[in-house]
Amino acid sequence: MNNETIVTEFMRPTGINLQLTVNNLTVGYTDEGPDNAPTIIFIHGFPFNRAMWTAQVEMLKDSFRVISYDVRGHGESDIGSTQFSINLFVGDLIHFMDTLNIKATVVCGLSMGGYIALRAMELHPTRFLGLVLSDTQCTADTPEGKEKRSKAIDSINQNGVESYADASIINLFATESFNSKQEEVVTIRSIIEKTSKETLCKTLMALANRKETCSGLGEINVPVLIMVGKEDKITPIASAEFMHQKIKGSVMSIIDDAGHLANLENPSAFNSHLSQFLLDRFSKTHL
Ligand code: MLT
Repeated sequence: MNNETIVTEFMRPTGINLQLTVNNLTVGYTDEGPDNAPTIIFIHGFPFNRAMWTAQVEMLKDSFRVISYDVRGHGESDIGSTQFSINLFVGDLIHFMDTLNIKATVVCGLSMGGYIALRAMELHPTRFLGLVLSDTQCTADTPEGKEKRSKAIDSINQNGVESYADASIINLFATESFNSKQEEVVTIRSIIEKTSKETLCKTLMALANRKETCSGLGEINVPVLIMVGKEDKITPIASAEFMHQKIKGSVMSIIDDAGHLANLENPSAFNSHLSQFLLDRFSKTHL
């Protein structure tokens, strides 16, 4: 008998409709692109799902391994039984990466996705090679912000998810794109309406209770791209500028014709800044 080791190739499933089990919970995800390319993981905002990254996955998938996943309770991911927190979402992300055998990655988060990315960078700096922060902020909620979340929870419990969708959708888009981008508005409204009451309320609590990440920004020493829609009413340009000043070497781009959902409202500008950043910093040979 010889000592030859038989290596069984791990077949990585690819596609836009994948599921895996992390901590006994099903996670819905998309995994596209070549096996040996640099990896980028996209994290959606609240209360959306990974479908919001379709244009970015399409653009990058020839050159990068591109992953997007549904945060716990959103899209096709199970909700579990514990209270939500940003730290819980970070733990989910790290377990998800471990399950897929991803040691380190670039991560791109929009709004709540950015809160998760920033906290993940603080807690697990060696797991991240670069950050893309879109329409997000490092501050915690103000007392007024917490009060608004608590009123939103009461309203969801009394009036249901549809009325929450009606109240929130107008603030997500720039005025012009709210009128002209009907397809995107309808898609986002339907994503919000499909999110369960329980997920909405648990996530609102997690957002209200989140801690700031501003004090750790000076420690970040990977390439960082910050993007913000010019008319973002939720996480405005000032929030992006603040992070840009604190993160050494960061690059910042303001996206015209966009509000809070910059990647959906102006995908060509968003994608052009994103691909330029990735090309310059991560993959001269791939893109
Ligand atoms: C989001 O888009 O994730 C939310 O607007 C974040 C928040 O409400 O703080």
